[in-house]
Amino acid sequence: MDAVDLVKVDEIIERYRGQEGFLIQLLLDLQGELNWMPRDLMEHLSERLDVPKSQIYRIASFYKAINLSPVGRHMIHVCMGTACQVRGAQKVLDYTASKLSIKPEETTPDLAFTLRKVNCLGCCSMGPVMTVDGEYHGGVTLEAAEKALKGLR
Ligand code: FES
Repeated sequence: MDAVDLVKVDEIIERYRGQEGFLIQLLLDLQGELNWMPRDLMEHLSERLDVPKSQIYRIASFYKAINLSPVGRHMIHVCMGTACQVRGAQKVLDYTASKLSIKPEETTPDLAFTLRKVNCLGCCSMGPVMTVDGEYHGGVTLEAAEKALKGLR
């Protein structure tokens, strides 16, 4: 687990020690700090907290907010819901994927970007919609997609 700062991890663990029902919030805090949840880290938590590994893994895999594999520093979501698809979401997705030289659900080798498809971002009338690091972009054209990505790497 050489990429993970265990001192920082242990500091976060200490914030929750003695509290009931803390495990979910602890995992979310660690996710926020590290951007993903390495298997080695879950083993470390299991030892430090005396909680079965299976319980930690079950919680981590239940929450979509917790990434079980490395993700990019910048998270791109392209909505592929019906309302966005009829307004050209596939073109936005294909263009974004080609700009990043990855497929949807992949992360660039430099860990700069992760591209994900989502089913609906809850603002269908703005379609096609994409988010870049949580910021919504509606009525996305290919030029707008390029502009949204520019300067992030
Ligand atoms: S279908 Fe894209 S935001 Fe709802």
